[in-house]
Amino acid sequence: MPAAVVTGSSRGIGRGIALRFAEDGYDVAVNYHTSEDAAESVAAEVRDRGRAAVVVGADVSDPEAAAGLVEAAADAFGGVDHVVNNAGIDQHVYTEELDPADFDRVMDVNVNSAFNTTKAALPYLRGSDDEPSVTNVSSILAHTGAPIECHYAASKGALLSLTRSHAADFAPDVRVNAIAPGHVETDMTGDRTPEEEREQLEAIPVDRFGRPADIAEAAAYLRDAGFVTGETLNVNGGELMG
Ligand SMILES: NC(=O)c1ccc[n+]([C@@H]2O[C@H](COP(=O)([O-])OP(=O)(O)OC[C@H]3O[C@@H](n4cnc5c(N)ncnc54)[C@H](OP(=O)(O)O)[C@@H]3O)[C@@H](O)[C@H]2O)c1
Repeated sequence: MPAAVVTGSSRGIGRGIALRFAEDGYDVAVNYHTSEDAAESVAAEVRDRGRAAVVVGADVSDPEAAAGLVEAAADAFGGVDHVVNNAGIDQHVYTEELDPADFDRVMDVNVNSAFNTTKAALPYLRGSDDEPSVTNVSSILAHTGAPIECHYAASKGALLSLTRSHAADFAPDVRVNAIAPGHVETDMTGDRTPEEEREQLEAIPVDRFGRPADIAEAAAYLRDAGFVTGETLNVNGGELMG
């Protein structure tokens, strides 16, 4: 059966993607960094959908850990056909107060992890007969920038450049695309004030926040879209058009 590695799939968008891939017939490597119990629950939900799951704790910003994740998936499933680089962290702080170590950490988790996991998976992807793909989860902020999270926005912009570079590099064997979500209701966005929530909602023409399933829908499309590579799919309820 075809198999996917979804980084950061213990919660939020990654969990949504893992479950959608299971519904679509994929075995899934569920990756966590700190939330082991949550990852085990996601794996149980994958198995409820009739697919196999393996749970792998790995900080994917560490190249060896990312390689271990890929190896565990390949051992469990006999290969890796798709990778979704979803793991990410955010931090709200103005540049004047931003510690360079925090800047580096955000880049490590949001960009280096995608490089690490993709690089480790590449031999397996090239050996796949399931029209293999890599999908990188970027952000609307890659396009707009963000005053109180310049490192986050920069990391997500870098992810789009990595996407296009890898798409050209791996063609025609492996397609590589990105998703740029707008505001999606997860733990990452759970700390906004009611006023921030109202202001954000007013900027979204479809008049609701995104759900993990909305991003999973985009991930499923890009997994299957055989004539799409090097592309960014914007999924933001019309907040940024064009
Ligand atoms: N929510 C939004 O509005 C939004 C918008 C645009 C883009 N995004 C992007 O979408 C992705 C998922 O975001 P989310 O909202 O679902 O966030 P979330 O609810 O905070 O979940 C983040 C996930 O990433 C994992 N993770 C964090 N650091 C990791 C590391 N070093 N190694 C492995 N896994 C790690 C977490 O695992 P543990 O819990 O196990 O530590 C968790 O599963 C991120 O890349 C984020 O930047 C989100």
